[in-house]
Amino acid sequence: MDIANFEFNALHLPSPIEEIYDECWNSKGIQVFVKRDDLIHPIISGNKWRKLKNYLQTFSFNTHSGLLSFGGAYSNHLYALAFTGHSLGIPTVGIIRGDELNIESNPFLTKMNEWGMKLQFISRTDYRMKPIPAEFESYQVIAEGGFGRLAMQGMEDLVNELPEHDLIYTAIGTGATAIGVANYSNKPVVGVLTLNNKTEIEEHKLPANLAIEDAYVFGKYAKQNHELDQFCADFYVKHQIPIEPIYTGRMFYALIEHIKNGHIAPNTKLVAIHTGGVK
Ligand SMILES: Cc1ncc(COP(=O)(O)O)c(C=O)c1O
Repeated sequence: MDIANFEFNALHLPSPIEEIYDECWNSKGIQVFVKRDDLIHPIISGNKWRKLKNYLQTFSFNTHSGLLSFGGAYSNHLYALAFTGHSLGIPTVGIIRGDELNIESNPFLTKMNEWGMKLQFISRTDYRMKPIPAEFESYQVIAEGGFGRLAMQGMEDLVNELPEHDLIYTAIGTGATAIGVANYSNKPVVGVLTLNNKTEIEEHKLPANLAIEDAYVFGKYAKQNHELDQFCADFYVKHQIPIEPIYTGRMFYALIEHIKNGHIAPNTKLVAIHTGGVK
């Protein structure tokens, strides 16, 4: 199946936009719209399709045997890559952090294996070097989390799908989504850090309209936090939109705090990108 057919037949694009309401922000004339990229597809959800699309579209068997990337045992990125590779007939390899793991360690790894992704489990020390096993040298490498120029270019479609707005919020992991969105938007973008990687993010060429918010990491990436878990549960009850504590939970938490503390001007129309992650 080619990319255009796949997008048309399997994906929910353009993804929906929903306005959410709250007395606190509506009394200030602030409007909050959620770009529901989490609804693009149950597996290639959120920013995954946006980031992978150009890698898949430009992939050629004339130059490479398949696509190879890196991630942890629960990587949303590898899970999406395994599924798209399977759907589009492109062989995939996942280099997984942790040589104590195997294809039965969790249901995601099991599925990735079933979709034909070749999984290589390597020690956490080796993983830091991002080694490419000799047998896969002919594979095109996608950096951890999908980070790269092609991933950022995938944000052009997303920006073009946004309604009229004054400000954009999105979560930052590798930074590909936020940098890409800011590159294609002429509006201010707030990227909410979800891990302590501000220095690494600032090493990239950052567009002038991207502001990094680093006060909502909650200690450490993915560290369980009762307040965040409760926030996500309450958010769902109030707005009927599922979010998770690692990325979108932190992003919405920051956004709502920014409204409460007057950081966002009255009468602002803002769009929050729902980057998915709710498996
Ligand atoms: C659900 C979700 N949201 C946001 C991000 C962060 O995106 P990026 O790595 O492009 O900064 C990720 C990580 O890729 C993610 O899985």
